[in-house]
Amino acid sequence: MAVLITGIGELTTNDAELGKLRDAAVVIDGEEVAWVGAAADAPDADERIDVEGRAVLPGWVDSHTHLVFAGDRTAEFEARMAGKAYSAGGIAVTVDATRSASDEQLAANLRRHVGEAARQGTTCLETKTGYGLNVEDEARSARIAADVADEVTFLGAHLVPPGADAESYVDLVCGDMLDAVAPLVRWADVFCETGAFDEAQSGRVLKAARERGLGLRVHGNQLGEGPGVRLAVELGAASVDHCTYLSEADVEALAASDTVATLLPACDLSTRQPLAPARRLLDAGATVALASNANPGSSYTTSMAFCVATAVLQMRMTIDEAVWAATAGGARALRRDDVGFVRPGARADLHVLEAPSTAHLAYRPGVPLTAAVWRRGKRLTSGFVSKW
Ligand code: NIG
Repeated sequence: MAVLITGIGELTTNDAELGKLRDAAVVIDGEEVAWVGAAADAPDADERIDVEGRAVLPGWVDSHTHLVFAGDRTAEFEARMAGKAYSAGGIAVTVDATRSASDEQLAANLRRHVGEAARQGTTCLETKTGYGLNVEDEARSARIAADVADEVTFLGAHLVPPGADAESYVDLVCGDMLDAVAPLVRWADVFCETGAFDEAQSGRVLKAARERGLGLRVHGNQLGEGPGVRLAVELGAASVDHCTYLSEADVEALAASDTVATLLPACDLSTRQPLAPARRLLDAGATVALASNANPGSSYTTSMAFCVATAVLQMRMTIDEAVWAATAGGARALRRDDVGFVRPGARADLHVLEAPSTAHLAYRPGVPLTAAVWRRGKRLTSGFVSKW
């Protein structure tokens, strides 16, 4: 069944030829976008929905979350807000809670958070393992994630479990753990940071994952400058995420590569780190994505709109740069071209704003501006106006 969405005041397509359109219309057929153009030229369809001048953009592509977890870390957050520094060690608290949870509890928690994200316009979401840290719990996390998320990443190398020997744990990750999860995931990631995995250990994990055909991602340069970015670029990772502390050499390496710099502003704020140097990256020519990093420790938000507003208001990204980074940029970080765009053949993932333009995402920060969401051609939300 074809659905015509018309009366679009501003349409962000992210397509180089289509650009940004005014007074536009989109036709959805099944799960795909079938037509995009001026409202006056729109073809007939089975159903017609007038969005009355609202802005439409691709659904958010959140390319970095950690949502297979149980438990709560409010106390750690409160301590941080009282001055305690964030460290990788907090991950172990969530590992204990996750191992103790049933499959049903983990799946329900994941679905609750993904639903929360979808109501705010997220239509494509990556999530990671990394709170299991043994073969059985990493494999079960991957299975649960694969049932719900668009993209799944293996992050057995998130933390050396307390009490374990680091080298033996890396052997396990590169051997039995990868064997168990590889059929369930598309990506492998490593937390290359002081307190987590050093350069040699990270390199071993990434190479072992690559040998099994997995795509690579890296958590790097979150808490200080380090080898994460260099390693990611050298190994051809699709993305290096965080990038809070970058040397000039890191920026140049990213600009000269296909590796996306995925910035996580909500995490920088929640861990009281400086905000990542988006302007330096963009001015050098690097590809930048924005993601939520939704997780119970360092960034407990699913709001991509909050990330976009922060990127514009505080990281000096333009509105168009930030919106691109949170849609097509996320898609690039996941090496996909079916999401993050509104053009014929793309997945019909649309986000209608309760606003006439995407500028309102930063102009009206903190205001819930999602008016309607379509994912795979299916409308997830209904109605545009709430009555008081
Ligand atoms: O991306 N950096 C490592 N992993 C997460 C933190 C997870 C946690 O603290 O539970 C992150 O910030």
